Amino acid sequence: MNYKILTADQAAALINNGDIVGFSGFTPAGSPSAVPDAIAKRAEEFHQRGEEFKIGVYTGASTGNMLDGSLARSKAVIFRTPYQSHSDMRNAINNGEVAYFDMHLSHLAQELRYGFLPKPKFAVIEACDITDDGEVVLTAGVGISPTICRLADHIIIELNEAMPATLRGIHDIYEPLDPPAREPIPIRHVSDHIGSPVVKINPSKVVGVVKTATPNAIAPFAEVDEVTATIGNNVALFLENEIKAGRIPKEFLPIQSGVGNIANAVLGSLGSSEHIPPFEMYTEVIQDAVIGLIRKGKVKFVSGCSLTVSADVMDDINHNVEMFKKHVVLRPQELSNNPELVRRLGLITINTALEADILGNINSTHVLGTKMMNGIGGSGDFTRNAYISIYTCPSVAKGGKISAIVPLVSHVDHSEHSVKILITEQGIADLRGKSPRQRAEEIINNCVHPDYRPLLREYLAKVPSGHTPLNMNNCFEMHKAFMETGDMRQVKF
Ligand code: COA
Repeated sequence: MNYKILTADQAAALINNGDIVGFSGFTPAGSPSAVPDAIAKRAEEFHQRGEEFKIGVYTGASTGNMLDGSLARSKAVIFRTPYQSHSDMRNAINNGEVAYFDMHLSHLAQELRYGFLPKPKFAVIEACDITDDGEVVLTAGVGISPTICRLADHIIIELNEAMPATLRGIHDIYEPLDPPAREPIPIRHVSDHIGSPVVKINPSKVVGVVKTATPNAIAPFAEVDEVTATIGNNVALFLENEIKAGRIPKEFLPIQSGVGNIANAVLGSLGSSEHIPPFEMYTEVIQDAVIGLIRKGKVKFVSGCSLTVSADVMDDINHNVEMFKKHVVLRPQELSNNPELVRRLGLITINTALEADILGNINSTHVLGTKMMNGIGGSGDFTRNAYISIYTCPSVAKGGKISAIVPLVSHVDHSEHSVKILITEQGIADLRGKSPRQRAEEIINNCVHPDYRPLLREYLAKVPSGHTPLNMNNCFEMHKAFMETGDMRQVKF
């Protein structure tokens, strides 16, 4: 290999205060770890000498502790986009230390190319292989890697020797041209490959290769509990009935499924339903449950942006990579979340709400309207363009002190126009073809927790006349009751 081998500290020493850095990966999968951690240490050294040191940070999505965690703890971040989920980064954003802007994930690469956002000076890319002529084989996540490699002045490669070079062939790397030259994206079927198995870079941009050896893996998911299992079963029931009614073709449609424990439980229920045929997925994050369903023959093929799986599952994939290549493709987020493809392929999208309202609006991101949780992620890319968009959530949070369903959401990520179905452990609200008042009845009757049904009915009974049942004088009373008493059930309408 002709590239210069560096330690992580030597690589970090190339990065200076004010530089903008784009990192590979999507979730901890494919995200570099040693170099960002070393940049955080470098920042601390500067701060101890009383000198400024902060960088701008682009990633595909959330990352691991050694990227978002380390950089946030070291107060080394000027700005951050498009998504994060680490508690230290979340705190730094909410206390004003980090300027965070929350973006649809499909937008980031093109907005960098359009010049809407400043270009990265460095790209730090995790790879399992790199050739002297600039062919980079990514690991378990793709994210924005092709675009940042092209736009950055300098590239640092983290060569992760715990991820096998045989992953070559699992990726499909394609970057659309920008308007007015953009062509239709030629993916006609979920399993089509339209690009290259590698990211092609200019080798002269590589300023160093840092060797690491930590397999991509996340903590295993929580066991499915009664609430998440019931939500999963309700989703399966809803989809079975749609097939019976002929509103979903009997051969089924590709599934997109969001992140987290509920998503994992939903996939478990779809997998064990006898009435749902083996299906394909066109999704963003490929979680443990999907790999289990591939092994069972229930998922025929999955297209995603990352393999965000636990250590045992990653080990299974790495050891059986040729078999998995027949069932899995990893694409840049610009393609995995592409609205054109979501609409054309007819995706059934299933995402998780933090909060919903009786009108059908969804809040995916903000606690009590102000505190950022993670970000919108891909949920908007999928929801707005879905064949059927489904939102799921437990009907209550914090032991019942919070109703996930309120008169009006404290922040809108997905409007009533885009949300078709709401599902909690209480039941299913079908919002299609219903007026705002009918939607409110449907949601209160089917999805709201019994503790909150009388309260929301009381609110609804007192709204002024008008097309939309909204009372501007008291639509946030449940939130206010929580802030004042710690329990939304104390609300007085
Ligand atoms: N008000 C205040 N807090 C609430 C709440 C509400 N209405 N509903 C839930 N919470 C709390 C929970 O109690 C929990 O708090 P805790 O961590 O202190 O226990 C926290 O918010 C979130 O719960 P969590 O278990 O982390 O939920 P999750 O893993 O199911 O994630 C989202 C839910 C909405 C945060 C997550 O799905 C997300 O970030 N979505 C946006 C991006 C997205 O949809 N991506 C997928 C597209 S492919």
